[in-house]
Amino acid sequence: MKVTIFGTGYVGLVTGACLAEMGNHVVCVDIDAGKVERLKQGDVPIYEPGLEPMVKRNREEGRLDFTTDAAPAIAHGDILFIAVGTPPDEDGSADLKYVLAVANTIGDNLDRYAIVVNKSTVPVGTADRVRAAVAARLKARDSQVEFDVVSNPEFLKEGDAVEDCLRPDRIIVGASSPRAVALLRKLYAPFNRNHDRMVVMDERSAELTKYAANAMLATKISFMNEIANIAERVGADVELVRQGIGSDPRIGYHFIYPGAGYGGSCFPKDVQALGRTAHANGYDAVLLNAVEAVNDAQKAKLFELISRHFGGDLKGKTVAVWGLAFKPNTDDMREASSRRLMEQLWNAGATVRACDPEAADETRRIYGERADLVLCDRPYEALEGADVLAIVTEWKAFRSPDFARVRGLLKTPAIFDGRNLYDPVAVEDAGLAYYGIGRGRSLRDAT
Ligand code: UDX
Repeated sequence: MKVTIFGTGYVGLVTGACLAEMGNHVVCVDIDAGKVERLKQGDVPIYEPGLEPMVKRNREEGRLDFTTDAAPAIAHGDILFIAVGTPPDEDGSADLKYVLAVANTIGDNLDRYAIVVNKSTVPVGTADRVRAAVAARLKARDSQVEFDVVSNPEFLKEGDAVEDCLRPDRIIVGASSPRAVALLRKLYAPFNRNHDRMVVMDERSAELTKYAANAMLATKISFMNEIANIAERVGADVELVRQGIGSDPRIGYHFIYPGAGYGGSCFPKDVQALGRTAHANGYDAVLLNAVEAVNDAQKAKLFELISRHFGGDLKGKTVAVWGLAFKPNTDDMREASSRRLMEQLWNAGATVRACDPEAADETRRIYGERADLVLCDRPYEALEGADVLAIVTEWKAFRSPDFARVRGLLKTPAIFDGRNLYDPVAVEDAGLAYYGIGRGRSLRDAT
């Protein structure tokens, strides 16, 4: 089938590459000419396992093209995906200016039936706004062309995006037109494994499904972080509690890992935006607001523990930080917990020696050259001259360190384990102080 995708960010690019991989002819449109040029050379601007070879292969085989030119791209596609960004505006609501700009462009150029598919995470009611925008532009030029608007949210995870896209758990299609549903069934048929993955519903329900999924996952994490904070105070180990509750299939083991807070481009933004939507519709989303507040406090947790360890005086101290990206297998620093930690450390007069397998360049881009930030290529190099070590992201490279070596390099050997990666006893046996998240010892050791 012929597909056009607006936006070559995570969602647009991965969707485009995967649809091409399944044999469709895909044209991706972006307003950023530099990015389009790079993509044409097969140079993928984001770190996502498996994506670059897939882009290169499909380009070479003629199924994937990139352009800044919207008009021919609209003429190409029977299905026009909108996968542009919806950044939060000043009050935390999703800003639809890019989505609506694409809708306008489609309305200005469409000259035969097509389906306009929203893949961006957009507030409930956006499908109606897109429909109205396209219709208004068609009307302005007296066009009788028919079109349908569909909500088809994406559930890919960074780091597993290609895999998630090729083998989705579910394909949510919010559509009221049987013609659109039939076309999307055809497009997505190759993605069904064993059984039909497509769940068809109305547009508003599809839009809310995306927010509900992310808000539920964020709630699980904040819930566990709250239990961790209680565990810490009552002398329990949240890691044992986690295993204890995860064994109940109604709760499950996924997304109940306590830690230094959730980050990324989705959870913080979507929880906030859903709260705003609720508020705008006359409902105070108490639980969602609490999920956000717990996460916000959790991002300050490592700093609190470190600060308390040093009696509140961090001036002249050096903290080694392992892990900068908001999670492993990505170079994405959006809303990363490491940022809060580093900024708090710098404000307190400390220096950071940081190591991350992928996110060093992104960190440099965000913070520039500064005397109180040293980016190191290797984990142990970050420990040289450091007082203590904080773990923020659970990359494989940090999972089983040589604790004796760590102790030998640190001036005041202590590990602040923001992802509960280590066995506290093993760390303490190696002669280091151990602080975890909700492990019943952080407060005791610190006081
Ligand atoms: C998320 C959703 O998983 C995905 O379905 C949606 O489409 C986009 O948002 P992503 O942002 O890539 O994907 O990251 P995810 O793997 O979900 O992790 C989000 C954050 O939660 C990370 O900062 C991670 O460290 C944190 N997390 C995750 C926890 O703190 N504890 C957990 O148990 C799980």
